[in-house]
Amino acid sequence: MSFNLLTLNVCMDVFSAIADIRRVRWSEPRATWGFVPTMGFLHEGHLSLVHRARQENDRVGVSIFVNPTQFNEPDDLATYPSDLDRDLRLLENEGVDLVWNPSQDTVYPPGYETYVEVTEVTKVLEGAARPGFFRGVATVVTKLFNVFQPNRTYFGQKDAQQAVVIRRMAADLNFPIEVIVCPTIREPDGLAMSSRNANLPPAARREATCLYHALLAAKELFEGGERDAERLRATMAGIINAVELARLDYVSVAHPDTLQEQAVVHDRALLSLAVFFNDVRLIDNMVVER
Ligand code: PAF
Repeated sequence: MSFNLLTLNVCMDVFSAIADIRRVRWSEPRATWGFVPTMGFLHEGHLSLVHRARQENDRVGVSIFVNPTQFNEPDDLATYPSDLDRDLRLLENEGVDLVWNPSQDTVYPPGYETYVEVTEVTKVLEGAARPGFFRGVATVVTKLFNVFQPNRTYFGQKDAQQAVVIRRMAADLNFPIEVIVCPTIREPDGLAMSSRNANLPPAARREATCLYHALLAAKELFEGGERDAERLRATMAGIINAVELARLDYVSVAHPDTLQEQAVVHDRALLSLAVFFNDVRLIDNMVVER
């Protein structure tokens, strides 16, 4: 099924059928296309990616698809927030040309059985905490790349491991697509923007700034000369463990490219952590370098 959203007074092209996306994408073969994949419920972080894509390309495409294969908890999928009307208005205001909002059956028709696995960099951090997550991400992003066939694609540093996985996959599978990673966008109090923030009750929302403060404290230590990764981890863990509603999932000081845990930080490190507030799981990270 395809539709354009005249009913919502939206003028950009919005389709669910793959053939419509390909037709529009190739209607001007010389135009360069930037592509931003999303699961909807858009915030300033997504819009910063769209904005960058708008600056660097003739045309911009966005996908809105809550991808079931990257959720290992059925409840997490069921409670993922969505507001399509609002998303489309925001994208139209940003000058987006084309939106793909497919059904689950369009992306995964009955009988579907092909998956993409990136092996090494998915074994740690989010990959270890959420089995199957990156298999789902790599699979759907491969499909999105094949449907849109963009020149450039934009991902946020907020999901640092996802960016590493997509770069690896794009190189390994010879996608002729430049993968661009854009800075994390934060709320005024430092909380990294995420669609999941909407699920935080008010008290947890107030305390959720502890992720940012933990990262800042470790960064400050590093900048003061600390190179012992275990001390950096202990600093972050201490800050999270002192917060009543927070439950630490992991803290990490890893190499930014291989994602292997470091004993001693030589030049650069990815500081990252995951924290539960009841059943809402937040992640954040910072890269430090001397
Ligand atoms: O980062 C996300 O929102 C998702 O993992 C992505 C890249 C859209 C794939 O479903």
